[in-house]
Amino acid sequence: MKELQVKDKRFAVSIPEAELQKEIRRVADEITKDMQGKEPLFMPVLNGSFIFAADLLREIPIPCEVSFIKLASYQGTQSTGEIREVIGLTQDITGRHVIIVEDIIDSGLTMAHMIDTLQRQNPASISVCSMLVKPDALKVKVPIAYCCMEIPNDFIVGFGLDYDGFGRNTRDIYTLIS
Ligand code: IMP
Ligand code: MG
Repeated sequence: MKELQVKDKRFAVSIPEAELQKEIRRVADEITKDMQGKEPLFMPVLNGSFIFAADLLREIPIPCEVSFIKLASYQGTQSTGEIREVIGLTQDITGRHVIIVEDIIDSGLTMAHMIDTLQRQNPASISVCSMLVKPDALKVKVPIAYCCMEIPNDFIVGFGLDYDGFGRNTRDIYTLIS
């Protein structure tokens, strides 16, 4: 079993690249069918989805646009605690078919917040496309139109996903072992 050291933690391969690529092509085909003539606007969420977005979009041959967004987290001055602001939303999304491209959905709170923020700008539709979903970790209901793979509630790195900023630059996905 191929292993990987990221900082103080050890990981082992859990999803080989080829397996993931097969599912990415399947999802790309679904999106291609659904979005015929709709000129969708893909909004990948940085940083985690940069590799997934690059691979997914190269499998989608229809006319589309791509605009990256990011969630900035900072401590608010109010007692409400953490404030999460969507940054990079420079494009007018009114009347557009928006597809949010995410690396992984865990509790679903990030995605719920993202959908909420984008919805206020009256897009024609919003669909979520997540490379991975941890169904057992979901705390809120999120409509997930496209998903490559469902995974157990374990911590993973690779293919864009990080542990403390490191480990994004691998071809396979690894699961924490110790
Ligand atoms: P959520 O708001 O709990 O759904 O968290 C989603 C975000 O947490 C993702 O966009 C990732 O950046 C990060 N995340 C969740 N699970 C993992 C993991 O197993 N490895 C690395 N990052 C993760
Ligand atoms: Mg993310």
